[in-house]
Amino acid sequence: MSTITAVGIVGSGTMGRGIAESALRAGQQVVLYDSSQDALSGARKHIEGNLQRSVDKEQLSAQEASDRLALLTTAASPDSLAGCHIVVEAVPEVLEIKLAVLATVEEQVSRTAVIASNTSSIPITKLARALSHQDRFVGLHFFNPVPRMPLVEIVQTVHSSDATVAAARQFVESGLGKTPVIIEDRPGFVVNALLIPFLLAAARMLDSGYADAETIDKSMRLGCGHPMGPLTLADFIGLDVVCAAADAMHAELRDPAQVVPNNLRRLVEAGYFGAKTGRGFFVHEASA
Ligand SMILES: NC(=O)c1ccc[n+]([C@@H]2O[C@H](COP(=O)([O-])OP(=O)(O)OC[C@H]3O[C@@H](n4cnc5c(N)ncnc54)[C@H](O)[C@@H]3O)[C@@H](O)[C@H]2O)c1
Repeated sequence: MSTITAVGIVGSGTMGRGIAESALRAGQQVVLYDSSQDALSGARKHIEGNLQRSVDKEQLSAQEASDRLALLTTAASPDSLAGCHIVVEAVPEVLEIKLAVLATVEEQVSRTAVIASNTSSIPITKLARALSHQDRFVGLHFFNPVPRMPLVEIVQTVHSSDATVAAARQFVESGLGKTPVIIEDRPGFVVNALLIPFLLAAARMLDSGYADAETIDKSMRLGCGHPMGPLTLADFIGLDVVCAAADAMHAELRDPAQVVPNNLRRLVEAGYFGAKTGRGFFVHEASA
């Protein structure tokens, strides 16, 4: 059993609402705080819709879905985070915004509360500087879509206390029913450090005319058993997100494997971000 039973989440966008849904499904009390009332309403509707889909598929009873939803508080003010045992920050990937949010969170919660960031590319050690008590801070890197992805990377800094890492681990395992890996604060953590150079290599192969997009994707699906090819996967992650992650890792490590090839850069400059805009390496059905 996790001793964490009340979870605060800051930012109710793609990731925040997904983390909230996972926590609600696991029976946690959830406070979802966002500076935008529209984002909060959108998040509640999204979670409600997903719970209803589980009812339609007979995975949850109507009573269970309504009990889960009753555990959710949406809040447009950070004071509501006061009683939370852990707060996960999931606001945009902008250092200044995150530093300000983390400082505000620390003002609200008790000394024993764990504070975490879901950043993909900002060093956790750099974000820790926002806090007076850096020992209580870790990275909790979730994957999209959160309710379906079992892994959470727990990123510890030189300041993170053993108690904080243990509490984060217990929260991920018993509090959310997900699988943690505990890693050091390095660019790309583990998953993106391996995945992004692979996606860039596929784009580079296409750019050089070595193979066409269908051939590259089919080869990795049928030759390696990947559920989708690297160019399709990049389209689903978002080509803008892939570029941003590659640039952040390259800025720190200067590894040529992290240089964004021209074709990918041009697609992003053209606004072709992949599935979410209807076009990337491939053309996709327009998403709602
Ligand atoms: N999208 C992904 O696939 C993914 C995967 C892993 C990690 N991440 C990371 O998760 C974080 C959030 O990404 P996202 O895609 O959910 O972003 P998003 O843009 O969908 O959502 C961000 C939310 O934060 C809110 N917000 C902005 N400023 C705020 C403030 N000062 N106080 C409170 N709320 C504020 C916005 O209103 C918005 O609802 C980023 O750090 C991103 O790098 C994203």
